[in-house]
Amino acid sequence: MIIPVILAGGSGTRLWPVSRKSYPKQFTKLSSNLSLFQESVMRLTGPRFSAPSIVTGTDFRFVVAEQLEAISAETHDVLLEPEARNTAPAILAAALRHEAKPDAILLVTPSDHKILDQHAFAEAIDTGAAAATAGKIVTFGISPSGPETGYGYLELTEPPVIGQSQSLRRFVEKPELEMAEAMIADGRYLWNAGIFMFRVDTIIKLFEQLVPHLAMATRAAVKTASYETGFMSLNAAAYSRCENISVDYAIMEAADDLHVVPVNCGWSDLGSWRSVHENCFQDGKGNAMWGAAMQIDCSNSLLRSENPDTKIVGVGLENIAAIATDDGILIANMDDSERVKEAVGELKLQK
Ligand code: GDD
Ligand code: MG
Repeated sequence: MIIPVILAGGSGTRLWPVSRKSYPKQFTKLSSNLSLFQESVMRLTGPRFSAPSIVTGTDFRFVVAEQLEAISAETHDVLLEPEARNTAPAILAAALRHEAKPDAILLVTPSDHKILDQHAFAEAIDTGAAAATAGKIVTFGISPSGPETGYGYLELTEPPVIGQSQSLRRFVEKPELEMAEAMIADGRYLWNAGIFMFRVDTIIKLFEQLVPHLAMATRAAVKTASYETGFMSLNAAAYSRCENISVDYAIMEAADDLHVVPVNCGWSDLGSWRSVHENCFQDGKGNAMWGAAMQIDCSNSLLRSENPDTKIVGVGLENIAAIATDDGILIANMDDSERVKEAVGELKLQK
């Protein structure tokens, strides 16, 4: 049985003004009528999977409960972090939650991705499950389309074959641009999709070996957690002693015996307005409209209003992302849309 573990505690800054600290990207509707979080839960429902465990921040408990209810999801297992300590302790907490089932397979996934081809994704999961059962740490690899510095890179020992489990030489998290360019030129690298599979006992042992202090603090936070219907709140004092580090740095860069399943499933992490635009329905001139939006003679633009009473009208625009919410308006060149995070940092725009 595969137990999905859905990570939903991050705060996206690159999709301001829609994504913000109090209501991050995974809970917003970006390219369909469901939030990315809801899409993730639905994707991981079906005969392959048992009910998922969700790991998120205490502040998001109500939005999680509400969004689960809206899709009639069956899970009643939500782990609450008193403060965000990044993905390494979040994942270990979920693994410890299932420690009584040492040979169960965990499928850890982000909650802020788009996957267009569910069939290809499901096939990759089946291949990954076999390798994970055999004790491997399994990653999923995406053919890169450029030297992105916001992703992890997977170096394969052999050329990638879609759908096969292959061994990895190394895992490099978020390289500098120069290194990313060299890896793209080399051709043996894939992007890390941020999805992992492993047995419960394998990953717990690895955490204990590689980050013993973090493992001890997380174990204490789980052991002294408090429970109320559907929620497990990790102990705040113990959890605050966990190192704030992602699983990519803490485990993936350091582990031996990693595997990868190269997959071609229409994956996107919707990390910028440009990628949201690419994933939205577009008219013949490449325009995507959302909410009370209208365009005249525009091309390759995204016009989006979150409020039905605030109309957004574009005239003669080319390659522009224009996004309006009740308290913020973004107008960006599509190619620079990632840089909104600079403004968010500088102006402390995020609430
Ligand atoms: N519960 C919880 N707690 N979830 C978290 C936390 C936390 O403290 N921090 C982040 N998350 C969630 C995010 O909401 C997201 O769903 C997922 O964990 C991944 O975190 P990101 O912060 O989005 O990671 P990233 O995008 O910088 O990098 C990861 O994903 C890339 C692919 O999108 C890495 O795994 C990269 O190697 C990978 O290429
Ligand atoms: Mg991300």
